[in-house]
Amino acid sequence: MILLDRVSKKYPKSSEPALDKISLHVEPKEFVIIVGQSGAGKTTLLRLLTREEKPTNGKIIVGGIDYDKLKDKKIPMLRRKIGVVFQDFKLLPNKNVFENVAFALEIVGASNEEIKKTVPKVLAIVNLSGKEKNMPSQLSGGERQRVAIARALVRQPKILIADEPTGNLDPVNAWDVIQVLEKINRFGTTVLLTTHNVEIVDKLKRRVVILKDGKVFSDKAKSGYKL
Ligand SMILES: Nc1ncnc2c1ncn2[C@@H]1O[C@H](COP(=O)(O)OP(=O)(O)OP(=O)(O)O)[C@@H](O)[C@H]1O
Ligand SMILES: [Mg+2]
Repeated sequence: MILLDRVSKKYPKSSEPALDKISLHVEPKEFVIIVGQSGAGKTTLLRLLTREEKPTNGKIIVGGIDYDKLKDKKIPMLRRKIGVVFQDFKLLPNKNVFENVAFALEIVGASNEEIKKTVPKVLAIVNLSGKEKNMPSQLSGGERQRVAIARALVRQPKILIADEPTGNLDPVNAWDVIQVLEKINRFGTTVLLTTHNVEIVDKLKRRVVILKDGKVFSDKAKSGYKL
């Protein structure tokens, strides 16, 4: 599903590379947690997958798409295969829950009929049925993040990337969000999660990739948080 072969990324004007010859292979339906100290390169790695950044060196293949051959006009098509969730939710404040999720479908030209059918299903998956009319300001942090997850899911991506989705949440809400990610993974979506939350990593017992100074420091199945 995801293949990185000796991928390096050096930002202009920086002396050290943010990523240094990273090789990583993620199978379809895997749940992978990426940990590492601040600045280790976690977000950079995710931004390479969404093509917000290009690698300086190395090969990236996602869902059979070789990024070396990817034309700019095909990037929106790629982004439909990858749902993204951020630490700060990024909801539209003037749209209610239903509209926030629907918007992700509207911009790819979905019909009203499809929107009416799909949005409630996705809201049910993230346990937000009944909150359709709430504005983001009328939701808890955990609920806001679950709206963001619904929005990422509504186009049925093969891969869900969650970059510190629990960073702004208290432990209870954080755990709700993680359980939603696990549910989505059980349904067959590949999940990549970055987090600084030791407890979550230790409880999940999933594959853990530790980045250190832009390198893969360790990569272990059913692991915990050991930097
Ligand atoms: N747009 C950018 N331009 C220049 N340097 C950048 C840019 N984005 C990140 N960096 C640098 O690349 C390195 C890796 O940053 P990155 O954001 O990937 O780390 P991270 O592991 O996600 O950290 P955190 O846990 O704080 O989110 C850091 O040294 C950072 O300063
Ligand atoms: Mg980051």
